[in-house]
Amino acid sequence: MIPKRIGVLTSGGDCPGLNAVLHGVVSAATTRGYEVLGFLDGYEGLLNPVRYQRLNPLSVSHISHLGGTILGTTNRGRFVAKVGAGKKSEIDPNILKQARDNCRALNVHALICIGGDGSLSTSLQLQKAGVNVVGVPKTIDNDILATASTFGFDSAVTCVVDSLDRLHTTARSHKRIMVVETMGRHAGWIALHGGLAGGADAILIPEIPFYYSKVGAFAKKRASLGISSTMIVVAEGAFPAKGRLSTIRSGLRGKGEVRIGGIGEQVARQMEKRTGQETRHVVLGHLQRGGNPTALDRILGTRFGIGAVELVVKNKFGHMVSYQNYEIGGVPISQAVARIRTVPPKGQFVRHAREIGICVGD
Ligand code: F6P
Repeated sequence: MIPKRIGVLTSGGDCPGLNAVLHGVVSAATTRGYEVLGFLDGYEGLLNPVRYQRLNPLSVSHISHLGGTILGTTNRGRFVAKVGAGKKSEIDPNILKQARDNCRALNVHALICIGGDGSLSTSLQLQKAGVNVVGVPKTIDNDILATASTFGFDSAVTCVVDSLDRLHTTARSHKRIMVVETMGRHAGWIALHGGLAGGADAILIPEIPFYYSKVGAFAKKRASLGISSTMIVVAEGAFPAKGRLSTIRSGLRGKGEVRIGGIGEQVARQMEKRTGQETRHVVLGHLQRGGNPTALDRILGTRFGIGAVELVVKNKFGHMVSYQNYEIGGVPISQAVARIRTVPPKGQFVRHAREIGICVGD
């Protein structure tokens, strides 16, 4: 007889800490007598020909410190359930049925889906199709409702801070304005945390439409006071009050979310024009998603993995792990995907940034 099995997959954009989650899942599941199958390349591995690898404590013993995911992932393909901020689409019922039938044939009692809000929406559709699903929230953007934090965020913020530390020295030496574009889609958390920790002078986020005139005047004032350089962090989803989201055309066809980007260059051009000061821009891009996870993300990832197995054991299907008050618990996935968690424009974090003189462009 095939032993009871737990399936696990990583879906959506990769994120530092995914392998730590896999380590937590496999270790906790094995202790409880389950076999673990790791499906490859996100939900795609559930389809014919089904693709998976057996995971055991040995195969995951030295992966927690590694970035990326040993299972592979995709944010494209036949399971994409998110087509824009908060907009969801229905997955083909035949695809869902094929995935369910393969889980049943492999005796997969529960499927642990590690992904962002789009991938978690997919998991809910699989749950409705008859798969016992448990979610693990994942994103560097930290924009998932119902969890105080997601793993990967701290690593992304650390990358922003390291980059700002480097850019400050060259900006000062050349008396330049430096514009640094961060990831985060429609949420400004990475820019705000990275900017605050890295000593940014201005931070522009999607939640607060900005005015070029105000940011320009801010930089000019600094120059008039003898402060030779200005560091501006702009979230990729930030946009001017009289403009719109900047996107990048992709040559690739297929379902998925629009690529966001380009605002860093636009801000740099405007700053140079308005201040007369030489300005450069840097797009941090996928550097923020790559590399080894920080200690915090390794710990959070491992604990999320263990928490997911605990939810399976308690038959809490349709739930995802959540981090609140230093404890790992569970919440219905539906609660988490209803909308994304964005920065409250009048919240304490923004207020504190303003208090130390950071310009948010409004
Ligand atoms: O959601 C995570 C994220 O890194 C966003 O911050 C970014 O806009 C997007 O993924 C980039 O995705 P891709 O790797 O498909 O370009």
